[in-house]
Amino acid sequence: MPQRQPTHILVVGAGAVGCFYASKLHHPDVGIFVSLVCRSNYQTIAAEGVQLKTRDFGEYHFTPHRVFASISDAGRGAPTAGPDGHGGWDYVIVTTKALPDRVDDAASVEHVVRQGSSPGTGTTIVLIQNGVGIEAPHRLRFPNNPIISCVTVISAEQVSHGIVVQNRWTRISLGPYSDGVGNEAQSASSSPSSTTTTLSNASTESMHLLQSWWARGGIKDAEPHSEKELQLIRWHKLTINASMNPSAVLSGGTGNADMVLLPELRMHIRGVMDEIFYLAPRILQVREGSFPEHLGLASAEKIIKSTERNKGAKPSMLLDWEAGRPMELEVILGNPVRMARERGLECPRLQSMYALLKAAQDRREEKGKDAKVGEGSKL
Ligand SMILES: NC(=O)c1ccc[n+]([C@@H]2O[C@H](COP(=O)([O-])OP(=O)(O)OC[C@H]3O[C@@H](n4cnc5c(N)ncnc54)[C@H](OP(=O)(O)O)[C@@H]3O)[C@@H](O)[C@H]2O)c1
Ligand SMILES: *[C@@H]1O[C@H](CO)[C@@H](O)[C@H](O)[C@H]1NC(C)=O
Repeated sequence: MPQRQPTHILVVGAGAVGCFYASKLHHPDVGIFVSLVCRSNYQTIAAEGVQLKTRDFGEYHFTPHRVFASISDAGRGAPTAGPDGHGGWDYVIVTTKALPDRVDDAASVEHVVRQGSSPGTGTTIVLIQNGVGIEAPHRLRFPNNPIISCVTVISAEQVSHGIVVQNRWTRISLGPYSDGVGNEAQSASSSPSSTTTTLSNASTESMHLLQSWWARGGIKDAEPHSEKELQLIRWHKLTINASMNPSAVLSGGTGNADMVLLPELRMHIRGVMDEIFYLAPRILQVREGSFPEHLGLASAEKIIKSTERNKGAKPSMLLDWEAGRPMELEVILGNPVRMARERGLECPRLQSMYALLKAAQDRREEKGKDAKVGEGSKL
């Protein structure tokens, strides 16, 4: 598949991650046009674009090709058919918070995703979200479309509408997604279906283009991977996000560095990490012992050691909890717990944290509703 000219990319979710990576992908000089779907910040970005204040690239302005107020508007405003007869968006990049208990992202993007008519065709769906199991709903709804799964290590936030600050890091790891295990490259003997192979090849091709465009934008650590490697990287990031972040909330707002310096909490954090190191190779069907070291990923002990010095910002799960927003609980705890259970694997610490936090979130929302009813009755 040669690069289509021009290429139209739609980013759904113009928050910190969405605006930063969109700004580094937009290259009108070579026919790559990035448009944004906004929500609460629509008025500001439609009028003024995005202002970026970055550690790695200084301060700059990003004017998207087009700006939409909703996903359905972007569906109605999709590019019209070119000489090849294909209209619609070439890439749809999802950068919303992953909240499958609230919204079905795959259903939401149906307005803007051109269904593939045969394996490996249609709009390429790109997911830049935390957690695991985020791709499955898209694969189910779009059985033929190329999917690219991305894991980012960045510290960024939208400090006010249309103003995005990148504090540090730019790393984004990319991988194709066919069935979530990606055995096709590893073993010729287990001969995967030709559909899986076609999907995997098409997704890989799209991934290399995307990676090269980010590199062109200056993201030096946009790194392509195989499907299995990328999933291992996802699970590896979970050793931090599933251990520290729920614990930060459940311990009444203790920061990461403080947690690992308290002996009892350090033991708990280590216990959660060990559960993930136990689950990941079994779920992803890799030989035990080959994870995490063969990918150059840090061990539990190394992560804990480096956390001691990281008296940094609060994890976003804690910020979400404190602000009364829904937490990314299902993709960080719920999905790993369910994936383990389906395979008869134990992860008691993850399961306990999931049960406790989910109940805490539900109770708080009930109270919120009561408070609103109370307010209403006063009027
Ligand atoms: N920020 C980081 O440093 C960082 C680092 C690594 C990974 N991540 C992950 O990256 C993902 C995105 O995080 P983020 O920090 O960029 O979140 P964010 O700043 O909250 O951005 C999400 C954006 O999506 C918008 N949105 C949600 N639903 C929408 C819809 N239906 N239509 C249009 N827009 C919609 C939100 O609009 P509203 O403002 O209207 O809600 C918000 O602007 C998360 O999975 C996060 O865990 C973030
Ligand atoms: C995941 O962990 C990183 C590193 O501690 C943190 O910056 C980020 O906010 C975390 N994400 C969530 C959802 O808590």
